[in-house]
Amino acid sequence: MEQSLTLLGLESSCDDTAAAVVRQSGQAPAEVLSSVVFGQTELHSAFGGVVPEIAARAHAEKLDHCVRDALTAANLRLQDMDAIAVTAGPGLIGGVISGVMCAKGLAAATGLPLVGVNHLAGHALTPRLTDAVPYPYLMLLVSGGHCQYLIVRGPDEFKRLGGTIDDAPGEAFDKTARLLGLTQPGGPSVQKEAKSGDPRRFRFPRPLLDRPDCNLSFSGLKTALMRMRDQVMAEKGGLTRQDRADLCAGFQAAVADVLAEKTRRAIRHYLEEDPAARTVSVAGGVAANTAIRAALETVCTEVDAQFLAPPLALCTDNAAMIAYAGLERFRSGAQDGMDLTARPRWPLDQSSPAMLGSGKKGAKA
Ligand code: KG4
Ligand code: ZN
Repeated sequence: MEQSLTLLGLESSCDDTAAAVVRQSGQAPAEVLSSVVFGQTELHSAFGGVVPEIAARAHAEKLDHCVRDALTAANLRLQDMDAIAVTAGPGLIGGVISGVMCAKGLAAATGLPLVGVNHLAGHALTPRLTDAVPYPYLMLLVSGGHCQYLIVRGPDEFKRLGGTIDDAPGEAFDKTARLLGLTQPGGPSVQKEAKSGDPRRFRFPRPLLDRPDCNLSFSGLKTALMRMRDQVMAEKGGLTRQDRADLCAGFQAAVADVLAEKTRRAIRHYLEEDPAARTVSVAGGVAANTAIRAALETVCTEVDAQFLAPPLALCTDNAAMIAYAGLERFRSGAQDGMDLTARPRWPLDQSSPAMLGSGKKGAKA
């Protein structure tokens, strides 16, 4: 029987300051005892994107409050923890440093072990936290800064099958919203408008489907949308509500189609490597999109694979995923010292060739 482990996790790599307590007793499913997230959307809203210096300062101010609140909500004290896990990258470096320094301070004061966690590993291991999915499984990570297919084989073992060569889908949703005068974050606004739109009125491209690999591209969709918008504006002198809804619906359908087809290919690679494995999961903020979820679910049904989408609060940035990823690393014997460094870039699969967009392109991870 493996021992029970309780970890405090800290997350501060982008615009959410978060702390959480996660416990796992032996082989039992892990439990999220608390998960506190302080979002910074309002601090950045006037600037149309995340301002790194403002983010770093806010993290430094909020981290200890988050830790206190997470411990209180879990009804535990720092001394009850077995280790402290912290996001050590990739992300906006000022924020990552704030988290790492806070975790080092707590570890030094308490003597608790310190475990550095890759933020992307946090996302990628979420289906193990929520559903105790066995290794290996296929993960599509789709967020504001990332888009990649990974075969997840262990807490530190990832094979990257492909990913975006330019924008991440969340970034494309956000830019689309900006081009159409919708509020940020763009994903939910575009999804809402798309509900009353006709996805066939505007003919959006389906980038890179002519290439057999698992790489994706989203920047062309945003350019196409801008051209279509400008054409309508030139013809009519402005955009009607219906024009906007049709543009959103066309854009969203193109993203969903491309992700569905590339997922079909990624599943093929995954099953070739691991014929007995059949779980496909998704994580990251874009996984909240109902049209995309439905498209992925259809693909999984076709090939008789289990489709898992974690609850939204654990898809977007949070510290429970960091505490859990740290718990798995710690259980396997990993631990970091006071020389743990904050890393702005940190690809999960160190062996796959570096490509534009594969590490960290947008502000978010
Ligand atoms: O995972 P997340 O909270 O932050 C990181 O990027 O790590 O993802 C945020 C991204 C934003 O770009 C947001 O527009 C997008 O996820 N998003 C959505 C939806 N909800 C959030 N994109 C499409 N549809 C949604 N419903
Ligand atoms: Zn993230």
